[in-house]
Amino acid sequence: MAILVTGGAGYIGSHMVHALADAGESVVVLDNLSTGFREAIPGGIQLFVGDTGDQNLVSAIMKACDVDAVIHFAASIVVPDSVRDPLGYYRNNTANARSLIEAAVQNGVKHFIFSSTAAVYGNPADVPVTEESPTVPMSPYGTSKLMTEIMLHDVARAHDLGHVILRYFNVAGADPQQRTGQSTPMATHLIKVAVQTALGLRPQMEVFGTDYPTPDGTCVRDYIHVTDLVRAHAAALAHLRRGGPNLTLNCGYGRGYSVLQVIEAVKRAAGHDFAVRYSSRRPGDPATIVAAAQRARQILNWRPAYDDLDVIVGHALAWEEHLAAAERHANAGARSA
Ligand code: UFG
Repeated sequence: MAILVTGGAGYIGSHMVHALADAGESVVVLDNLSTGFREAIPGGIQLFVGDTGDQNLVSAIMKACDVDAVIHFAASIVVPDSVRDPLGYYRNNTANARSLIEAAVQNGVKHFIFSSTAAVYGNPADVPVTEESPTVPMSPYGTSKLMTEIMLHDVARAHDLGHVILRYFNVAGADPQQRTGQSTPMATHLIKVAVQTALGLRPQMEVFGTDYPTPDGTCVRDYIHVTDLVRAHAAALAHLRRGGPNLTLNCGYGRGYSVLQVIEAVKRAAGHDFAVRYSSRRPGDPATIVAAAQRARQILNWRPAYDDLDVIVGHALAWEEHLAAAERHANAGARSA
């Protein structure tokens, strides 16, 4: 029996693959390497390069590797891109998920863990948001994920495919052992941008909006360490293997930090100041989004280990330093060749 991790060469997926390999699980990865990296996968793990929408390939993998669980990370994840290219997002995130779920049903896969997002809540009227809060996405990205959630609910009624839907809040940080991290060069996420600025890889960074109805006027988010998020997936898989019911769970810590608080944390971690420009609001940003985070703790017995903004930022900075050193090394090699 094996676990198929889609998007296993990507940021969160590669942390999952490392954790599963550490736990001695049998794992195979499907990734089209559009944003993932072969090097992010630990040695000895089989990588199939292809799309989740390639049903023949997916079925062949499921048969050949005796897959009984799927952890589905592969997706497009940039909210503003989804506004510009809705059909691309509905293809990659919704149509490809439909195809993957169908292959799972046809091949007798028992367990499906799905990476959903806090973006399904849109701009919530009340925070913290519970799993019962209304789902009114503000972007095609959020809608594309919500549509997959709905498919999983309907499929669970008709077929023997159990699921856990995990709604991620703001994922950040890197493997504490520095084996993998957020490697996308053009990433747009706040902590990545801030650590790149701290290292001088960007001349300055922008704060998008200072007039929100929040304590310091900047947006508030619930930042969760990627390692804790991955542990929630492992706990979700154990839950399904025990015969537990289908679940939808928020993955956050239940505490919010503003953009300015995050930037201050990055300055503390770096030990120096860097240039920050105050800009206008970025379209589509909700003012505050924080998880009601009890359910995962109660049902999965999930116990976060890195619920500390300074630790999250410290690991993100260490990973960025690692990437910068690798880049310098590669450039030096190219010059001396
Ligand atoms: N921000 C800046 N400057 C930057 C980058 C971001 O001020 O250079 C601000 C944003 O405007 C926002 C906050 O930092 O207020 C966080 O922005 P991110 O881009 O890091 O993350 P988002 O909250 O927009 O989105 C993330 C994920 C989504 C997920 C969402 C759920 O990318 O997939 O969290 O809250 F749906």
